[in-house]
Amino acid sequence: MGTVYVVANQKGGVGKTTTAVNIAAYAAMSEEKTLLIDADPQGNATSGLGLRKETITRSIYDLLLDSDVTASDTIQPSPYAHLDILPANRDLLGAESQLVRIEGFQYRLKEKLLPIKDSYRHIIIDCPPSLGALTVNSLVAADRVIIPIQCEYYALEGMSQLLNTIMAIQKSLNPNLEIARVVMTMHDGRTNLAQQVVNEVRLYFGPKVSNVIVPRNVRLSEAPSFGQPIGLYDPKSKGAEAYARLAMEVLGIGKERSGERSRSLDPRNWFGGNRAGG
Ligand SMILES: Nc1ncnc2c1ncn2[C@@H]1O[C@H](COP(=O)(O)OP(=O)(O)O)[C@@H](O)[C@H]1O
Ligand SMILES: [Mg+2]
Repeated sequence: MGTVYVVANQKGGVGKTTTAVNIAAYAAMSEEKTLLIDADPQGNATSGLGLRKETITRSIYDLLLDSDVTASDTIQPSPYAHLDILPANRDLLGAESQLVRIEGFQYRLKEKLLPIKDSYRHIIIDCPPSLGALTVNSLVAADRVIIPIQCEYYALEGMSQLLNTIMAIQKSLNPNLEIARVVMTMHDGRTNLAQQVVNEVRLYFGPKVSNVIVPRNVRLSEAPSFGQPIGLYDPKSKGAEAYARLAMEVLGIGKERSGERSRSLDPRNWFGGNRAGG
């Protein structure tokens, strides 16, 4: 039974896409069948895996708005083994206003994912920076929420709005939804501020805060322009180390085969899998 995770925070630039792409990639590197869903019109998760947005013929836009289009029609293999993608492009910009005119629009993504949910071990949804219809659809479709928070001033600003949205959805549309982890991102170990923010977020969220604190690491910001997850672009970087640990903690990857984990996390076992037809 696949678990659906949604990476959400209505603030932009906090590390949602970086988190979604990299934990999805580590799950796939661990040979666990994974689907990354791009629910953001910016399509950064799509391009981050090396897909060219211009060449996408069917996207999540078609899935959400055309009742005849199925998940299998829109999901494609990524360049990496065990990792599929449901891509997005600018078409999705128009989706919010069109979606809300559909009766029961909040359930649209959940319903469309039902037939394929069990084909994957992990399904990870990357959200846009808003609490509109796309984020609501994602939260209704999900089992667990991952909230990235950037280590900066006003880190918790807007958080009550996000938590109120999550609670409202738990009350009515999706009682199963739970917060999996809060992840502190872009931590700069040289500043006192970053540590203060970590303390503040720990006071607010308690044990929900992940033990893994993602450092500010330039390799993480370079990797998307090569269409590569960090586990491939620079597997020895600090950013890679953090996301590998986060994927193990949040997704529980490799749990059933822990003895094999170190072997299967070797990028040489993984790169080019789908390209080679595997
Ligand atoms: N830990 C990090 N260290 C350095 N740069 C990062 C880190 N995490 C994200 N970035 C960069 O910061 C920008 C915003 O991150 P992104 O994941 O796209 O945020 P969001 O999806 O929330 O808008 C991107 O350019 C990304 O490459
Ligand atoms: Mg993003």
